[in-house]
Amino acid sequence: MKFNIVVLPGDGIGPEIIDQSVKVMNAVGNKFGHEFNYEYALIGGVAIDEEGTALSQATIDKCKKSDAVLLGAVGDPRFDDPQAPIHPEDGLLAIRKELGLFANLRPVHAYPSLFDHTNFKPGVLEGVDFVFVRELTGGLYFGQPKKRWTEKDGRWAVDSMLYSEHEIARIVRVGFEIARTRKKKLISVDKANVLQSSRLWRQVAVEISKEYPDVELEHMLVDACAMRIIQNPRYLDVIVTENTFGDILTDEASMLGGSLGMLASASLAGVPKAGNRTLGMYEPSHGSAPRHKGLNDANPIATILSMAMMLNYSLGLSKEAAAVEDAISKVLADNYGTYDIIGKGSTKVTTSRMGDLIAERV
Ligand code: IPM
Ligand code: MG
Repeated sequence: MKFNIVVLPGDGIGPEIIDQSVKVMNAVGNKFGHEFNYEYALIGGVAIDEEGTALSQATIDKCKKSDAVLLGAVGDPRFDDPQAPIHPEDGLLAIRKELGLFANLRPVHAYPSLFDHTNFKPGVLEGVDFVFVRELTGGLYFGQPKKRWTEKDGRWAVDSMLYSEHEIARIVRVGFEIARTRKKKLISVDKANVLQSSRLWRQVAVEISKEYPDVELEHMLVDACAMRIIQNPRYLDVIVTENTFGDILTDEASMLGGSLGMLASASLAGVPKAGNRTLGMYEPSHGSAPRHKGLNDANPIATILSMAMMLNYSLGLSKEAAAVEDAISKVLADNYGTYDIIGKGSTKVTTSRMGDLIAERV
């Protein structure tokens, strides 16, 4: 089959890691007989430099016409001043909103070969394999009012954790659909003991659960979830939660995988159901790591795992996705690692070598 992929390398290590995804995809194309056409475009700091905006209309249009979007990373310390008029991250938030990417899937997997590399006891990590479904286009990130102002008594600021029942219902459905393909257990994370938006969230989750009698629904408070993630992560399977809670919990959970460089992510514009293809953007959960830019030492695995999610959710190529995931497990079992995941007895490799090793094993 033929597919059109928009590639947004972005800033920092973005171009280096995205090259590895393209390399592995080409290996998939050769092995399974698919043709991937790549169209490159700008986002983030490089887009501010070239186009004067962190996300141009031209880039948005290309993405909307594509089968899927691959993103490297966004962020550049040159724009770190909070007073700066535009930030590279604006491009990321804008593309999520423009493409309607409301569902962010972030799988957490503890690879046995990386147990040593974490701060956890092996007994805690054994069998850890769960997935976050993070709401991505609502809550504190986008809710109005969102502003700063000054009064006689000083400066004020507000962000709003605003949710409509429609927004809650569609993300909770994504949680149920994913739970259906796994252990049929969904944990909805909120702060319903304090927040109004969470009380509505919980109520809607209960209503939607009637559509999924085969899936068990559990509610968990976000603080308790933060604790559970490190106390007994094996208990977790599918977790659905709002935008900010998901942002924080996914960074925490990434430590179970040994490195932030292992955490993949898919951002989808539709509910993933068996046999459905939906527009999506695929990016590692880590940032642009500016200090590693151009050093060819960053870990490309999160980016390549994200590309595997693309094969699955946007291109309907689940066999091919599994081949990529297997290739990564093999490379790790063969004890190769980039600087962030090497332990005793393992061989340290560069970003591009890691890409080669994975491509060879597809
Ligand atoms: C993430 C990142 C982004 C977010 C930032 C870069 C805006 O932390 O994807 O988790 O907060 O969503
Ligand atoms: Mg984050």
